[in-house]
Amino acid sequence: MRSGLFIPGDSEKKLTKGISCGADSLFVDLEDSVSLDHKQAARQVASGFLSELNQQADRPGLFVRVNAFDTELTDDDLAAVMKARPDGIVLPKCEHGQDVTRLDAILRVHEVENEIEDGATKIIAIITETAIGALNAGTYRRSSKRLQAVAWGAEDLSADIGSARRREDGSYRDVFRYARVQTLLGAIAAGVEPVDTVYTDFRDDEGLARECREGKLDGFTAKMAIHPAQVPVINEIYTPDADEIARAQKIVDAFEAAGNPGVLGVEGEMLDRPHLRKAQKLLTRFMQLNLK
Ligand code: COA
Ligand code: MG
Repeated sequence: MRSGLFIPGDSEKKLTKGISCGADSLFVDLEDSVSLDHKQAARQVASGFLSELNQQADRPGLFVRVNAFDTELTDDDLAAVMKARPDGIVLPKCEHGQDVTRLDAILRVHEVENEIEDGATKIIAIITETAIGALNAGTYRRSSKRLQAVAWGAEDLSADIGSARRREDGSYRDVFRYARVQTLLGAIAAGVEPVDTVYTDFRDDEGLARECREGKLDGFTAKMAIHPAQVPVINEIYTPDADEIARAQKIVDAFEAAGNPGVLGVEGEMLDRPHLRKAQKLLTRFMQLNLK
């Protein structure tokens, strides 16, 4: 996955619009973009949308962002949408790997009830939206085989802390940088995809592109979007380019040709096992993207 587009679950118009924007995954939202009095309607609209789109070949990945466990809305959200067999669930305000383990157990029951293959429903956890979540980012290793990715969110963390400002001169202030780094390390430690947070200024493509480039340099492999126009910008930057792939292939080939040594020199540069692992990782990710 390179891009995941949030779409308010109560908006049929936006749901329809989201299908064709090129997002690798759609995150149909039942949480923050849906008001309390629209939750029930959103569950119905979302579930109808998912059932229909599920039938189509060549569709984006279909995820539903449910409400957090402490709202007591999560069970009703899952009961409504699991019938429609989404590819996965986005769990917000996750505070510990145990929250993912808990969701795993709940999903297992829904899979039995709906005749879905055991373990087929994936989980994407948003792990640093609260102070305790940010501190516990290292707890996701072995939390669930369903865990596919972790992401972070600055808006809710800002509300939890009560910080007056998230950014200074375009860059995140320290506490948000901490949450971002915690998420990246937490993802790698858990062996799942690190996903960068949304860029809320949806008319500023330049700023979005800058943030995508920074995220990619740091090791994120995808970014969440809030507007269809952001998707092509994200996809372009998060697709490994031809030079990166050629370089990675060259490194893998060089190690193989030399009989898989610990270290070798290529064009005057020392390459050892970390270079090989990085190159293999990039090639694997490119293959998994399965681009047409
Ligand atoms: N998914 C699908 N379609 C969307 C969309 C989204 N996230 N955001 C906007 N669109 C559609 C609009 O409906 C509009 O369609 P139209 O041309 O058929 O009228 C078109 O894209 C252009 O939208 P625009 O006028 O530029 O924006 P807006 O003022 O209608 O909407 C937001 C702005 C922020 C309200 C909207 O982008 C949105 O709802 N984003 C998602 C918010 C969300 O899910 N937040 C939670 C996660 S942080
Ligand atoms: Mg939120």
